[in-house]
Amino acid sequence: MRKSLEALLAMVPVVAALVVAPNAAATAQAAASTPASTTAATLKDAASISGRLFGAAAAANLLRDAEYVATLNREFNQLTPENEMKWDFIEPNRGLFNYAAADRLVSHAESQGMTVRGHALVWHSQLPAWVQNMNSPGQLLTAVHNHISNVASHFSGRVAYWNVANEAFDDTSRAARRNSVFQRLLGDAWIEEAFRATRAADPTAKLCYSDYFIEGQNPKSDAVYALVKDFKSRGVPIDCVGFQAHLTSGAVPADMRANLQRFADLGVDVHLTELDIAGSGTAQADSYAQVVRSCLAVSRCTVITLSGVTDKFSWRVSQTPLLFDRYYTKKPAYDSVLSVLIGG
Ligand code: G3I
Repeated sequence: MRKSLEALLAMVPVVAALVVAPNAAATAQAAASTPASTTAATLKDAASISGRLFGAAAAANLLRDAEYVATLNREFNQLTPENEMKWDFIEPNRGLFNYAAADRLVSHAESQGMTVRGHALVWHSQLPAWVQNMNSPGQLLTAVHNHISNVASHFSGRVAYWNVANEAFDDTSRAARRNSVFQRLLGDAWIEEAFRATRAADPTAKLCYSDYFIEGQNPKSDAVYALVKDFKSRGVPIDCVGFQAHLTSGAVPADMRANLQRFADLGVDVHLTELDIAGSGTAQADSYAQVVRSCLAVSRCTVITLSGVTDKFSWRVSQTPLLFDRYYTKKPAYDSVLSVLIGG
């Protein structure tokens, strides 16, 4: 059995071309009796078996770090610039665009055959003061249109998915819109404006709404669900929902699969866009397995992306939430993810 699994993994590009996500269960079943940790698979190869991508957020300044790059290149086939496409990075001063760091990441991804996710066009955080301090709706709308048309056109054809609007819902009531400059000056319509502007600037990229604390069914995910349903019913262009999935061991929502499925049933793809799970050891491994199983059970859950490559550079560094430790050693959670992807 092991031999046939290894043969299957060696054929991954062929298998990925032939096997689509809905057939994952059959493929997984065929591989089920082989312990995944004994194979030579990588995360991206294992995810390819069911036609999925396995990605990571990456930082341009770390492309000089040989150990970091070796792990990124070996394990991942989708890259999300961690900060370099955010508004304060890319347009720190009005009308002056700084693409150097983002271009480096996109070129690196292309050189490795990785798919790129753009992150993020309109977000209340990492927003330059010149935008935050605006008080004219007309000027803000012009600034949003100008930002999106410049950035999305610049990367047109090179970015497969855009997180168009990020974290638009509140942290307290969670079902209400967040009090951002966009919401205050433009009202509810700002998200729709952003999606239409992105589609106009790059007709081929898939357009996603992305948020955290929406992995299970709750008032916040209900609010995002209503937004997506409304967009689909009115023909506002939206292709995918990004579930950031910043989670904690032992606290993965039990209804995650059902929640992903209800979004998929609206006619959008669902992506795990910044997956990380605080914790360590078996508890962390079990929680990662639960999340990956939830995705594999939903045919439209087509991309799993981690918030980083290694705990060493994680934005939640003290919570050791990733699959490689600070020495780039594979953690128990790595083995459990690989095993679930392969079907163990
Ligand atoms: O660019 C400056 C640099 O000039 C300065 O020398 C340095 C000193 O600290 O700071 C640099 O900016 C930092 C930036 O990352 C780039 O490294 C910011 O201080 C730091 O706050 C910022 O953190 C990022 C964080 O978003 C900001 O909210 C993390 O790297 C990034 O992983 C994290 O990612 C977000 C997602 O985009 C959206 N979901 C939530 C997640 C956490 O907020």
